[in-house]
Amino acid sequence: MAQLNQDLLNKVFVVTGANSGLGYQAALNFASRGAAVALVCRDETRGRNALQAIKQASSNDAVKLYLADFSSLASVSKVAQELRAGYTKIDVLCNNAGGANASMVETEEGFETTFVANHLAGFLLTMKLLPAILKAGETNKARIVFTSSLGHKNSAIDFDDLNLKRGYSTLKAYGRSKLMNLLTAREIQRRYGDKNIVASSFHPGAVRTAIWSKGGILSRVLGIVMYPFLVDVKKGADTFIWLASSNDEECVNANGNYFYDRRQPSIAPFATDEAAKQLWQVSEELVRPYC
Ligand SMILES: NC(=O)c1ccc[n+]([C@@H]2O[C@H](COP(=O)([O-])OP(=O)(O)OC[C@H]3O[C@@H](n4cnc5c(N)ncnc54)[C@H](OP(=O)(O)O)[C@@H]3O)[C@@H](O)[C@H]2O)c1
Repeated sequence: MAQLNQDLLNKVFVVTGANSGLGYQAALNFASRGAAVALVCRDETRGRNALQAIKQASSNDAVKLYLADFSSLASVSKVAQELRAGYTKIDVLCNNAGGANASMVETEEGFETTFVANHLAGFLLTMKLLPAILKAGETNKARIVFTSSLGHKNSAIDFDDLNLKRGYSTLKAYGRSKLMNLLTAREIQRRYGDKNIVASSFHPGAVRTAIWSKGGILSRVLGIVMYPFLVDVKKGADTFIWLASSNDEECVNANGNYFYDRRQPSIAPFATDEAAKQLWQVSEELVRPYC
């Protein structure tokens, strides 16, 4: 039976997209180190399988499953309430769930799917969990980590066309949503840094996960071509786990910054503070009916 390393005992971690890939790897690591971990997953069967596997591998019973479809803000709002009922404080929120979509699909709530699932859902979840994150910040530095991507350099945000009604492409929608992750981390830091919250975002590298098979034919072909160069998920999750749980100075004071391979690489020239502020304001407006 695995021995529990206790260094995250009494800490609460919430990990979205925890049934697969980077999210699963990170959640398993946190649970193995004694944390209470909430797995936020879309599909009940995949979620239950991950829950069982993580509990078994970590010998940690304080792992729970929560279900939400991030293409629906109503669903995100509901899971946030469940999480608030389950935990009085949240030490670390990992906004990791995400993916690419082959074609432009508008959700029932009227958003382009990538925009809502990769950005607005995590934004709303963060807003709704903020009281519990601030509570953790009373005793320790609480953290919010976003899984962004090098793809954030693909495209600036056109604030007049957030739902990409003009000129949709998978890469544009995906890249722009990853830029939103980077900018949201930075803006959280500006707004809540003095409340003992530290935010960060990161690029995991090109990682061998299921994501390549989910974004339609283009993504599948790219995945096949890239396959020999894709890194193992353990390596891909290294910076994620480091930012979320290490006491290294760079993590404790990540300061809203974007990381890759535990370092701060260059970012897109359009990833400006002004864009971060504007994105925050418009996101607040869009999620308000679900708050
Ligand atoms: N792999 C890479 O090379 C790479 C590179 C840069 C950034 N990233 C980012 O890394 C993050 C994790 O991806 P991964 O590579 O680990 O791929 P993955 O194995 O496909 O994991 C993605 C996770 O997000 C969940 N998810 C996707 N859409 C969702 C929705 N609408 N509602 C709820 N959950 C949803 C997935 O659930 P299901 O299992 O139900 O689909 C899965 O749990 C993503 O944000 C991705 O953009 C990955």
